[in-house]
Amino acid sequence: MMNNITPIALFYGSSTCYTEFVGEKIAKTLEKKCGENTVHIFKVGDDDLQKIQGYHNIILGIPTWDYGELQEDWENHWPELDQIDFENKTVALYGVGDQVGYPEWFLDALGYLHDKVQARGAKLIGYWPNEGYKFSASQALNEDGQFFLGLAIDEENQFDLTEERIDRWVTQILQEFGFD
Ligand SMILES: Cc1cc2nc3c(=O)[nH]c(=O)nc-3n(C[C@H](O)[C@H](O)[C@H](O)COP(=O)(O)O)c2cc1C
Repeated sequence: MMNNITPIALFYGSSTCYTEFVGEKIAKTLEKKCGENTVHIFKVGDDDLQKIQGYHNIILGIPTWDYGELQEDWENHWPELDQIDFENKTVALYGVGDQVGYPEWFLDALGYLHDKVQARGAKLIGYWPNEGYKFSASQALNEDGQFFLGLAIDEENQFDLTEERIDRWVTQILQEFGFD
């Protein structure tokens, strides 16, 4: 087990609790590897986004809604991201979506959040290979289209893969945060 890692903030927005559950699984996995109280969980809308300022390492979770749109709480608080200085902050993202129901907009909001915090100066980590997914278009891919811009989770169609994906991704981001 890794000790003495500085707390990581995890902020999520979630309308029907999937992104919340995934966030809790990510936090549990991190704490299994690094010890209790490693992760401080916050809900966009209930908790002030400005709390991000108190952390160096941050995880943000966002589902996509309504054909390629931001989840409601993220949308309502979007302008507040402009008040946060992400310089010297390292950010890992995870997105939740439905590749079968919405294949033309799979995880689009993940891409929008990525571009937003990157423009504010954040160092982004946690890119994730797009193998093992089937969709027709996504705004959440990197330039060459090989990677999602964060962990890609589909609880509707690939629920059985979520735990393994989280476990691998957590190992990856711990390294990229510099905790190995
Ligand atoms: C009306 C509606 C629109 C949706 N639009 C998209 C979409 O454009 N892209 C996508 O990847 N998923 C889409 N989804 C799937 C949700 O992202 C998915 O159900 C997710 O798990 C919801 O997360 P939450 O419970 O944390 O809000 C949509 C779902 C609904 C019900």
